[in-house]
Amino acid sequence: MGKLTAPAIACTKVRDGCEPLVMVTAYDAPGARIVSEAGADIVLVGDSLAMVVLGYDDTLQVTVDDMCHHTAAVARAEPDCHIVADMPWMSYHVSPEETVQNAARLMRAGAHSIKLEGGRKRLPMIDRIIAAEIPVMGHIGLTPQSIHQMGGFKVQAKQAEHARKLVQAAKSLAHAGCCAVVLEGVPDRVAEMVTDAVDIPTIGIGAGSRCDGQVLVYHDLLGVDDRFVPKFVRRYADVKSVSVSAVAAYAADVRSGAFPSHGESYHMSDAEASELHLYGGQ
Ligand code: KIV
Repeated sequence: MGKLTAPAIACTKVRDGCEPLVMVTAYDAPGARIVSEAGADIVLVGDSLAMVVLGYDDTLQVTVDDMCHHTAAVARAEPDCHIVADMPWMSYHVSPEETVQNAARLMRAGAHSIKLEGGRKRLPMIDRIIAAEIPVMGHIGLTPQSIHQMGGFKVQAKQAEHARKLVQAAKSLAHAGCCAVVLEGVPDRVAEMVTDAVDIPTIGIGAGSRCDGQVLVYHDLLGVDDRFVPKFVRRYADVKSVSVSAVAAYAADVRSGAFPSHGESYHMSDAEASELHLYGGQ
């Protein structure tokens, strides 16, 4: 099929007869290969890296260096997908110059576009990134980098007034030239309104079924971790329990002497072994 380009993504609207976009996060080469072989359209090197891989409580801890490191790992797998890299918190908040340099670092690490969180207040930075020929994906609604401003990971735009503002935010991102917009943690009706209001695709997570695509975090959809399952996650596997059983079986085999077997060991010829024996192993 070939990788989707940013302009191709920008034209993907379900109302025009397109299939919904499938986006999945990945943070390393094996994950990227799995996402690619499964036929996803877009692999997102999300700053959820902080929480699902690096063990932090929120996404604020990851840096541009961290994101470049993981974007490069994903890119080295050469997935047959469009690679989007998240700009981490504080990498696009200070100055337009720094913002463009940070976006460029992610592109040089192997991304095909970058994603950043926020609506109208991000427009000046988005303009500068796009002017540097870097495609941008927006992200509005529940924006995890604003966890302290939002007072937690809370569903957004539940009131009519806030829903109207969200529609306006999506329109301004589309107008600025974003190739798509992620809608996270908003009521399904609101996501539908946004989807109807813009010509670029909406990609939902916790935003109901009426978006132009869906995104899930790799570890959530595979059940790699079982500590907390948000309402919007569907688990397609239970990798955690399969993995725990496998490692427990290995531990039992080591302790009982059943691993490694003769076939799992390297061997010396009898002649060399007796020579070794003759000289006392010296
Ligand atoms: O970082 C991430 O994984 C994301 C998705 C939740 C959209 O931004």
